[in-house]
Amino acid sequence: MKAIEIRNKFLNFFEKNGHKIIPSARLIPENDPSVLFNTAGMQQLVPYLLGEKHPEGTRLVDYQKCVRTNDIDEVGDNRHLTYFEMLGNWSLGDYFKEESIKMSFEFLTKELEIPAEKLSVTCFAGDADCEKDNLTAECWKKVGIPEERIYYFGKEDNWWIAGEEGPCGPDTEMFYDTGKPKCSEGCNPACDCGKYIEIWNNVFMEFYKDKDGKYTKLKQHNVDTGLGLERMAMILQGKETPFDTELFFNLMEKLKELAIEENIASRRIVAEHLRSSIMIINDGGRPSNVDSGYILRRLIRRMTRHLNKMGIDLSKLSDLIDIEIDALKEMYPELIENREKIKNVLIEEKNKFTKTLKNGEREFEKVSNRLKNNGKDTIDGKTVFNLYETYGFPPEMTVELANENNLKVDIKDYDILYKEHQEKSRMGSEVKFKGGLADQSEKSIKYHTATHLLHKALKIVLGDHVNQKGSNITEERLRFDFSHPCKVTKEELQKVEDIVNEQIARNLEVTCEEMTLEEAKASGAIGLFENKYGDRVKVYTIGDFSKEICGGPHVTNTGKLGHFKIKKEEASSAGVRRIKAVLEN
Ligand code: ALA
Repeated sequence: MKAIEIRNKFLNFFEKNGHKIIPSARLIPENDPSVLFNTAGMQQLVPYLLGEKHPEGTRLVDYQKCVRTNDIDEVGDNRHLTYFEMLGNWSLGDYFKEESIKMSFEFLTKELEIPAEKLSVTCFAGDADCEKDNLTAECWKKVGIPEERIYYFGKEDNWWIAGEEGPCGPDTEMFYDTGKPKCSEGCNPACDCGKYIEIWNNVFMEFYKDKDGKYTKLKQHNVDTGLGLERMAMILQGKETPFDTELFFNLMEKLKELAIEENIASRRIVAEHLRSSIMIINDGGRPSNVDSGYILRRLIRRMTRHLNKMGIDLSKLSDLIDIEIDALKEMYPELIENREKIKNVLIEEKNKFTKTLKNGEREFEKVSNRLKNNGKDTIDGKTVFNLYETYGFPPEMTVELANENNLKVDIKDYDILYKEHQEKSRMGSEVKFKGGLADQSEKSIKYHTATHLLHKALKIVLGDHVNQKGSNITEERLRFDFSHPCKVTKEELQKVEDIVNEQIARNLEVTCEEMTLEEAKASGAIGLFENKYGDRVKVYTIGDFSKEICGGPHVTNTGKLGHFKIKKEEASSAGVRRIKAVLEN
């Protein structure tokens, strides 16, 4: 049975049983900043589970597009998916355990024709918060599941809540027995050896867990269920993995045909991440550096790396997208309309990443060789950070490459460095806003004064059209953007460097005066971003060489700066050049 037929059967069955069909919520929730993606059908229904009246009544059914990213690194095995479809039915203070179990059993055995002997179920074993769920077990026995196929587990397995706080309750899970031998004497549905596959979860939501971890009874008892469509399709089609179903099959085959170095895990990663990316973009997601946009970016980048790893020509991406959209369009007809948009977003992001990937992989190889030559096996946080900062190589990709190369990564160390860096840039932007320096260490103050010298020297060598377009200072270097129509020649750069070093050698005094903006201009001070200054401004004068409006601070004498050296000159944007320079002691 195809996935779409299972979905239709589900909707029809529950409609027949008095449920109203409601639409799937968008993958990226509109009004809930606490989650990046919709992860369960109940998410859009929280207010109604808590007691608000739903306009469609007390019995609802839908199919929900979901993305779960906690297992993103597991994708590549035979079962993990990030995007999946959850079929769900709800009782909002309507029926409870008995009717819910009766309907689930009927749907599985009559509509989907799964033999009852193939089913095992689990129930909540009971604890201090909630008693053992004997009623549920009784209901299962009533429909025909014998005692020996009913199992009891604690909160880890048979209690469901979305996150830390909210409506929750004991659940009962249904498992399909694949008929494989038990992996051990104690093998049961909680075991993930592959004998039992979880197919449906019915949550009996009658509790609320608050942020202190306390449980109270809700005003009404609810039922919230979730059936994984891809898994069900796999079972009903007698396949070993979701990748063998019609949802992925053609794409998997095409990847095999195109691959120079075929690799099943890589093919699954590409197929899975491509489908998820298509669905996220279809629902309005775009790659970015934050939140769901970053997850999308990660998916596309990882997909690109694995295409590359299999030696697949990246220009084939467009064809691959077509194949997958064709596989999904019956289920999600809006994909047809969005096809070109989806392609553009995916291809643009892939292109952006290709260069980074090459440089990053090359750099990673150097790192890995260096480690191996030194008999070490752990990449430190600084190296991971450097790969990210300098080569744009995402840390999770470094971890993945490390795994493939039998190396470890000190990710904790990386996290600390990353947080420090974020803190610094946050401080930077706050202070910059006030017009001062981002980082007021001794070294950066020196760079700030050197920037004034450079600005003036550029005007002398290149002409008065040179104006500051941007400046960025760290403890390691200065970066200065300025207007100039063409590349600065080696000779010109040498002249600029010499002039700056002359001024340093002259031990010029640096002084500061406050005056009005008009006075500053009249004094011949250069200064940009004028609209950012208030009425009164500070003017820094460096001997007889430079006069510039600036918030400071600066060194008191150029003699303190050390030797000025230009490291790089390049284009920054149209008509703007960029110089990076250092002060050497
Ligand atoms: N909300 C339940 C789940 O996601 C049904 O498993």
